[in-house]
Amino acid sequence: MPCQSSDELKELVKEARPIAKQGRVADYIPALGKANPNDLSIAINYPDGRCFSAGDIERKISLQSISKVITLALVLMDRSKEYVFARVGMEPTGDPFNSIAKLETMAPSKPLNPMINAGALAVTNMIKGDSVEERFQRLLAFIRNLSGNDTIEYNEEIARSEFETAHLNRALCYFLKQHHIIEGDVEQLIDLYTKQCAIEMNCLDLSRIGLVFALDGVDPQLGKQIMPMNIARICKTFMVTCGMYNASGEFAIKIGIPAKSGVSGGIMGAVPGKFGIGIFGPALDDKGNSIAGIRLLELLSKTYNLSMF
Ligand code: DON
Repeated sequence: MPCQSSDELKELVKEARPIAKQGRVADYIPALGKANPNDLSIAINYPDGRCFSAGDIERKISLQSISKVITLALVLMDRSKEYVFARVGMEPTGDPFNSIAKLETMAPSKPLNPMINAGALAVTNMIKGDSVEERFQRLLAFIRNLSGNDTIEYNEEIARSEFETAHLNRALCYFLKQHHIIEGDVEQLIDLYTKQCAIEMNCLDLSRIGLVFALDGVDPQLGKQIMPMNIARICKTFMVTCGMYNASGEFAIKIGIPAKSGVSGGIMGAVPGKFGIGIFGPALDDKGNSIAGIRLLELLSKTYNLSMF
């Protein structure tokens, strides 16, 4: 069933778009700096296959930090809760996504949660496989399965651009290695992590993955459990407590749905039991979240009473 353009969503996009002027496109990864700050699009996917959209929902975006919640799901399936949470915590930080500060001041020195970069790097390091290529292909296969789109690939230019400039992430990795949270070669981990972040899809694919989380791991088309329910629930809980970094508290109050953002301007939302959301709006606020995307979700949540609280 094709995704249907929706006048109601178009109205909300029109209302949300002006705030994009107050944001900035991420340029610390040079390849992301080319995005148009005024873009704003949304797709909403329902369990019965209905889909509604506004804006250019076919445009591809790199997942960036949205990948963190998907990698967490894979690693929880690969390993166990005990294994994963011995190496990364479950608490929000109140710090920016790439902060190193708490690694130094907390004892034991383990990342506070899997959504900040330090925790995400530790989680990516846990993906099973004998080589970077094998581990990456396993993640890609999982993402293709969740989205129902087996053409999903990664953007080599974006991966390379981040690989060449990921100095802070390398610093986080060496810190983690010193404290035995990760083992192995840091360059290989950065290679895997930057490819993970550069996986590309459009809003439609993103809303489809959001829907699998919304349905506690059930594929809506096949009616089959493709991720264990308890793992989908752990991921959604992290989306609520840490998904928007140090804006997660305000986001929970104003919008009240599990969501995960990325610096490319993507937001994946999962309205429990109801629908999945994919948003793209590359102008970011000062916390690295899509500024118009958040405004759009706020309007959507108010209009349709979506808050789970
Ligand atoms: O590690 C990084 O810097 C990026 N690849 C991902 C960061 C990100 O998306 C933070 N989200 N708002």
